[in-house]
Amino acid sequence: MSVASLKGRDLLSMADLNPAELQELLALAADLKSGKAQPTCKNKVLGLVFSKASTRTRVSFSVAMCHLGGQVLDLNAGVTQVGRGEPTVDTARVLDRYLDVLAIRTFEQSELETFAHFAKIPVINALTDLEHPCQVLADLQTVQEEFGTLAGLTLTYVGDGNNMANSILLGCALAGMHVRIACPDGYAPDASIIEKTQAIAAEKTEVLITADPALAAKGAQVLYTDVWASMGQESEAESRTPLFQPYQINDQLLSLADPNAIVLHCLPAHRGEEITESVLEGKQSRVWDEAENRLHAQKALLVSVLGAD
Ligand code: CP
Ligand code: NVA
Repeated sequence: MSVASLKGRDLLSMADLNPAELQELLALAADLKSGKAQPTCKNKVLGLVFSKASTRTRVSFSVAMCHLGGQVLDLNAGVTQVGRGEPTVDTARVLDRYLDVLAIRTFEQSELETFAHFAKIPVINALTDLEHPCQVLADLQTVQEEFGTLAGLTLTYVGDGNNMANSILLGCALAGMHVRIACPDGYAPDASIIEKTQAIAAEKTEVLITADPALAAKGAQVLYTDVWASMGQESEAESRTPLFQPYQINDQLLSLADPNAIVLHCLPAHRGEEITESVLEGKQSRVWDEAENRLHAQKALLVSVLGAD
């Protein structure tokens, strides 16, 4: 009742999974959602070290652990010595001695990697400036629920080439999906992530990075967007707005997609900016199922890295 090869492993990037592991994790997430799989992680303790705000990730990880019979400790900088400057290399080695698994939300990917290097227990990326793999697990679960499959579908992301775009690129390529990213010039996803994605796709599936949102949306089965200014970029929000306006998901852009297309957004959403109210609340939106799936997908990940029965 877990993905055996993931036992004891970290998830720092989507690229830490291979295609078979991704498929198995999504199948397990579906079984957890339906109640077919009922594993336990009794007496296991998850630590949450979050340096940025969070509703979905914090609550879904906490509830997942509660359902599995384990415990959660909220260890943000304000309640630990981290806030007073205790180095990560020391904090990681100490937390390793108490906890069974850690989920970390921070800025630099290198900070997460340092944690993972110094803590032997599994470390999970709960969002960095570079990636948000837990979100993409839930996104792919949502797409699979809708279409019954992932391979061969096209997912188009429009907006900022941020952490979401990076993990979406890798996740789609691993799932055998075509992936298109439409973003303003100068806001493309991370170059090394694009390279990794192309290597995974190996010319079997499309990887398109373009500045043209209409071209990217044409015929896609999934349209996806995220905020134009991520956490830590608040001061750029105003200056980015006019540049990103053509990348809004609205009824017009949606009309270019496949007639059965669904719309995803990791949330929190800014209505009237990256997505209109009518699309977010419209019949093609699956954002609430997507948010729910954070719980099931992360439960699948937790039981797997903890090696639960
Ligand atoms: N989508 C997501 O990660 O939401 P939170 O920032 O609320 O955790
Ligand atoms: N790109 C957003 C995602 C939030 C879930 C951010 O990093 O703020």
